[in-house]
Amino acid sequence: MNQNLGLKQKVDDNMKKITTFYTMKEKKEKITMLTAYEKTSACIAELCGVDVILIGDSLGMVVHGKKTTIDVSINDIISHGKAVRIGAVDTFLIADMPYMSYHLDINSTKQNAAKLMIQTGANAVKLEGASVSRIDAVKAIIDCEIPVCGHLGLTPQSINLFGDYEVQGKNEKTQDKIFQEALSLEKAGVFMLVLECIPEGLGKKITENVSIPTIGIGAGRYTDGQVMVWHDILGLSDIQPKFVKKYIDLKQIIKESVLEYIHDVRDDRFPKKENVYYPVKKIEK
Ligand code: KIV
Repeated sequence: MNQNLGLKQKVDDNMKKITTFYTMKEKKEKITMLTAYEKTSACIAELCGVDVILIGDSLGMVVHGKKTTIDVSINDIISHGKAVRIGAVDTFLIADMPYMSYHLDINSTKQNAAKLMIQTGANAVKLEGASVSRIDAVKAIIDCEIPVCGHLGLTPQSINLFGDYEVQGKNEKTQDKIFQEALSLEKAGVFMLVLECIPEGLGKKITENVSIPTIGIGAGRYTDGQVMVWHDILGLSDIQPKFVKKYIDLKQIIKESVLEYIHDVRDDRFPKKENVYYPVKKIEK
């Protein structure tokens, strides 16, 4: 296919999907989002029909074992994002902009957003916060024709300011601040807004007062959709916050299988006859 036509097709598909999210909000059909960090999970998520896959910078904690998301790099998101795109060819992908990739100046912000889009094949980027300079960053990225998803409430890249991963918007003043930030992000042009760890009432108020879809994680029942971390819903994480529903204890199941393998090898039950190779028999003429 002509490269320009391919790009146009991608942009058209993108627009269609973004429009679908708006329609879903209007019709009160819930939007589902899940993180994925590599091919297999992305492929399963796509097979199941999840609406959006997020290449979250949570990969720093979940996959790389770090205590925060602070030292996740653009290259980390790119290498995981490429694998995600191989597994999920058609699903709408959002790539997280890591810490310090949109904080310095407008030029590096635009370059980093474009690099993420081009190299991962993502459909949009996500960044945290709504300070004055953050709003400028959002506008500048959108000006490069890149859709931006906002992220408010508990923004993990602000951990050094927050001091802990705790619920945000506990009093009227901070609730109002988050509400105003949501309005500013909508005005700046974000197409979607992630709300993390805020009281349910605030999640509801924001959802009812913005035209863009809101996606909650620990933001209650009334947001337009939900996002969960892959490892959390499958029981692969070490900690389980209150807002997570664990659908299966995969860690335990995997542990049992690995133990069985170890015992099989040690007790000579594996490999069996069916697992070994034999010389190819020559066909007699
Ligand atoms: O990085 C991530 O996984 C996220 C979600 C928790 C929203 O930003």
